[in-house]
Amino acid sequence: MIVARDRGALSDALEPLRERGTVALVPTMGYLHDGHLSLVDIARESADSVVVSIFVNPLQFGVGEDLETYPRSEEHDLDRLRERGVEVVFTPTVPEMYPDGDPIVTVSPGRLGRRLCGAFRPGHFAGVLTVVARLFGLVRPDAAAFGQKDYQQATLIRRMVRDLEMGVEVVTGPIVREADGLAMSSRNANLTPAERESAVGLSRALEAGADALATGITDAPRVLDHVRAVLSGFDLLELQYAEVVDARSLETVDVVREGNVLALAAFCGTTRLIDNRVL
Ligand code: PAF
Repeated sequence: MIVARDRGALSDALEPLRERGTVALVPTMGYLHDGHLSLVDIARESADSVVVSIFVNPLQFGVGEDLETYPRSEEHDLDRLRERGVEVVFTPTVPEMYPDGDPIVTVSPGRLGRRLCGAFRPGHFAGVLTVVARLFGLVRPDAAAFGQKDYQQATLIRRMVRDLEMGVEVVTGPIVREADGLAMSSRNANLTPAERESAVGLSRALEAGADALATGITDAPRVLDHVRAVLSGFDLLELQYAEVVDARSLETVDVVREGNVLALAAFCGTTRLIDNRVL
């Protein structure tokens, strides 16, 4: 496995891979868990070689967010990727990624980026799309893999690829959960033991929403009442939003149908967690 820390090394490492066949990229911010590794496996099914990027992208963090405390563990990440048979890991520094400073031209997520998390994290999705576009420019992958836990992010990336004719096949992987249902996330590492106990409330609330639908309740506000009732039983969760949205437009729905997405965001102490379930 080649670890490329600058664009020259990346370009050298990519050359033989391209000669051999197709390349899939798995963009990450590191502190890898089984969810990321499942994306490596999915990427492997879509291409002959797999490149993983590890870069904590300052552009997608707002003022007062957790850029400084975002968990990092490069050695551990590299070991896991080596075990998984990844061909190239790209781990640029911030100046290597943005040699001219913050980019002047960025990718605007439009109205999709103002929904759900975008309403609470202005600038976040422009930061995500801009770094993903930049990674696509540097790696020129045939395919790229993203997790469904970041449902809005995956939706926006698909849309960016389509609207800007980027020619990258976007593949997504299902949410990988801990045994008790908590969606795997690098940020879980920042939870205290008490917060960890409350964090499971998110997946329980999603289950309650799905159960309500299964019993025939299709009125979205009533489904969300069930969701909120469960969340209120977890002391350390502070709900930011709970919405049922159309899977593509991300607009809220009044009547819940199969295929809609129930999406949640909550603070658990100082850690912001998200989760969702396709109903
Ligand atoms: O999902 C993430 O880890 C990040 O948002 C991504 C896609 C790697 C862009 O920085």
